[in-house]
Amino acid sequence: MSKSYKIATIPGDGTGPEVTQEAVKVLNTIAPKYGFSLDLQEYDIGGDRYLNTGEVLPGSVLEEFRGFDALLLGAIGHPDVKPGILEKGILLRTRFELDQYINLRPIKLFPGVETPLKDKGPEHIDYVVVRENSGDVYCGAGGFTMKGTPHESAVQTGVYTRHQVDRCLKFAYDYTKKRNKNNTLALCGKTNVLTYIYDLWERAFNEMGEKDYPEIQRDYYHVDATCMWMVKSPEWFDVIVTGNMFGDIITDLGAITQGGMGIAAGGNINPEGVSMFEPIGGSAPKYTGKGVINPLAAVCAAQMMLDNLGETEAAKVIEEAVMDVTANKLESLSAGRMGFSTSEVGDLICERVS
Ligand code: IPM
Ligand code: MN
Repeated sequence: MSKSYKIATIPGDGTGPEVTQEAVKVLNTIAPKYGFSLDLQEYDIGGDRYLNTGEVLPGSVLEEFRGFDALLLGAIGHPDVKPGILEKGILLRTRFELDQYINLRPIKLFPGVETPLKDKGPEHIDYVVVRENSGDVYCGAGGFTMKGTPHESAVQTGVYTRHQVDRCLKFAYDYTKKRNKNNTLALCGKTNVLTYIYDLWERAFNEMGEKDYPEIQRDYYHVDATCMWMVKSPEWFDVIVTGNMFGDIITDLGAITQGGMGIAAGGNINPEGVSMFEPIGGSAPKYTGKGVINPLAAVCAAQMMLDNLGETEAAKVIEEAVMDVTANKLESLSAGRMGFSTSEVGDLICERVS
């Protein structure tokens, strides 16, 4: 009997549904070729549901999510909803409740894609950021005193447990080993100022590396320097591991060096549980329904999902198709300037994976 994967799709807001549709089209095209099938179930979570019903992410839906093999997200963010409500209530809540403690972000420049980095090409920009996805200043510890008065204070504390750091590092070391590119893992921290949090990270990093991964070379960079080198010498990097807040920031920097929102994808991974894959582009409300948005980031999210499910061959074929399309077909990655419509780009990928 062939394998079947239960996938929940969350097309979400704005252009989310349009790009998700193309990702699903690609998945349905490739599945029979590699002997698996997909049992897709769509959830109408997002800004519209919230505006109509007041529900952000019902607990019952979250419980249902636990029964899937993976989740595929389109985009979250609605112009009529105050910033923070959907992001925290859907994206962050799912990450936390399903303990998706890794945010995996490949930074790879595909052929034919323009990068703002001078004199850099695909041979220079090909590394992966392993962002810790459960702790740091994202943990919710903090509060106000005397709010609304001239003397008010605000505190927001980054918290890391050794357990959180160790499980993230283990993933990062294993990933570096499996990737087998330069076998180099770089810790991105701030040991000169965040002398508690990144002291913990650095000790854990070195202890684990020495003991369990002697074949992996270890590097260390402060986060500010990391930003400089990501621009100046991205070819130095193989895998970077970092905390949640720094990871959030450097992965956006990385995304723009690989061509931006039209192409960048990420995975919120629970290696022992249910993971969620997303194009990182956002809902781009002004392009909604126009058929001009680039679906490749969503296709890349689906590709990461297959890779994570163990369908590595199918994942590789999708990536090659995307690379062929960026190299030989698209005029640009930007909405409205691709030279093709959203669904035509989906078709181009489908032709190549068939
Ligand atoms: C990301 C996003 C989220 C984050 C926001 C939308 C909460 O920026 O996935 O990088 O900060 O993690
Ligand atoms: Mn971000």
